[in-house]
Amino acid sequence: MPRFLEVQAPDHGVRLITLYRPEALNALCTELLAELANELSSADNDPQTLAVVITGNRKAFAAGADIAEMAERDLVGIFNDPRAAHWQRIAAFSKPLIAAVNGYALGGGCELAMCADIVIAGEEARFGQPEINLGIMPGAGGTQRLLRAVGKPLAMQMVLTGEAITARHALQAGLVSEVTQPELAVERAMQVGRSIATKAPLAVRLAKEALLKAGDTDLASGLRFERHAFTLLAGTADREEGIRAFQEKRPAQFKGC
Ligand code: CAA
Repeated sequence: MPRFLEVQAPDHGVRLITLYRPEALNALCTELLAELANELSSADNDPQTLAVVITGNRKAFAAGADIAEMAERDLVGIFNDPRAAHWQRIAAFSKPLIAAVNGYALGGGCELAMCADIVIAGEEARFGQPEINLGIMPGAGGTQRLLRAVGKPLAMQMVLTGEAITARHALQAGLVSEVTQPELAVERAMQVGRSIATKAPLAVRLAKEALLKAGDTDLASGLRFERHAFTLLAGTADREEGIRAFQEKRPAQFKGC
């Protein structure tokens, strides 16, 4: 049983994972991060789970790495830090990951939101990379993913000043896809997850992979990957079913094959 997560059984294919370390604003201690990586690996292997929503509480999605834990690590400790491998496993989750963010998403918390494929934010959410105030810098994607999401000027401003931005600003900048009332963020994220869960799983998986490719490859390679993935899907039963269902004017019943 995880100590710092609450995990619900899939609801219409969507598993809800809630970070639960309220006394520390869900600071991402190594144990929490390991539990999250394990949970996502198990969701990846579970055919009943077609998408995952990750959330925190009303005050904090996550206020970053655990500063007390970080203070105990010297250069060699950081060099050998198991956290990097946990982050890699989180980023490698192959199914859609949706973050429902309320309150603080700072440092590692903002980086975790950026590992998600879709981010729904409550209107009181705050996104920031305040590591510079601690004499350090982001180390889990907060320079690379942030720049790709919001562009150079805003990424520079956020990382170099440490100042957080509002949910509305994050929406305008492309860091989040929707802003809701705070109490509706999780339900909206579940709704989006349930919508995705009705689609053909192999098409969802390859579409996610192709979209992620766009962020880390040149256009020609990205287009080539997209074409190969598109061609691959021509061999699936779900493609046949999707097209036939359209022609027969009925909802498609996808099977993931
Ligand atoms: N690590 C450990 N504990 C944290 C924490 C963190 N990142 N953020 C908050 N807490 C703890 C506080 O120490 C406090 O604990 P106590 O009650 O035992 O003192 C508790 O959570 C509540 O926090 P505050 O009293 O500070 O709450 P607040 O409402 O006054 O302020 C806040 C909220 C502005 C988010 C403030 O807590 C804050 O600035 N937190 C640190 C944010 C930060 O710097 N994050 C970046 C961490 S580095 C990182 O993330 C690097 C990386 O991944 C690679």
